[in-house]
Amino acid sequence: MTPIAVFASGFGSNLQAILDAAAQGRLQAKIELVVSDRAKAYALVRAKEASIPAFVFNPRDYASKADYETMLAARLGELGVEYLVLAGYMRLIGPTLLERYPNRIINIHPSLLPLFPGKDGIGQALAAGVTETGVTVHYVDEGMDTGPIIAQKRVPVLPGEERSSLERRIHGVEHRLYPRVLQQIFSQEGTKC
Ligand code: GAR
Repeated sequence: MTPIAVFASGFGSNLQAILDAAAQGRLQAKIELVVSDRAKAYALVRAKEASIPAFVFNPRDYASKADYETMLAARLGELGVEYLVLAGYMRLIGPTLLERYPNRIINIHPSLLPLFPGKDGIGQALAAGVTETGVTVHYVDEGMDTGPIIAQKRVPVLPGEERSSLERRIHGVEHRLYPRVLQQIFSQEGTKC
């Protein structure tokens, strides 16, 4: 079982997919902690329902990113967390956590990166009028959705499609793809050494 922490700022449907996959044995990971930068994130309700400890912090309570990431790194270290899994965590990761977890921070984004990084990848794709978008899982670096790509899945945009429909289909793809890709990464880890 790979010990992980899931970082989520919002609704937490990807967190839920990870929790479900772990509970059903499709993902050999132990979710040690859910971390959120927003006290009102629904992801925290999901953590509570799954009896997973949660840690909420307000970045404004800290003088700098380095300060709160040092605090987070200590907490994650105490729990023996090996990978950080970002699931709708809407903050850039800074050098403190990147150095502590080299190639061990993973993110999911609702577009075919490098297209449409940052906020609202789905809205950006619709506004651009593309006929195809998708989902990307990638390692995190210091940039905004820029690290090495691990997996991508294409999603066609249907003619005249409403945002709600595209969003539902993209999220469906995310919920299937993310646990599967994480499992691949963690199982390779198990065969090293
Ligand atoms: C997901 O679509 C995820 O790909 C996206 O936020 C959403 C979170 O939904 N992440 C990004 O845009 C990262 N730049 P969720 O809270 O229901 O999992």
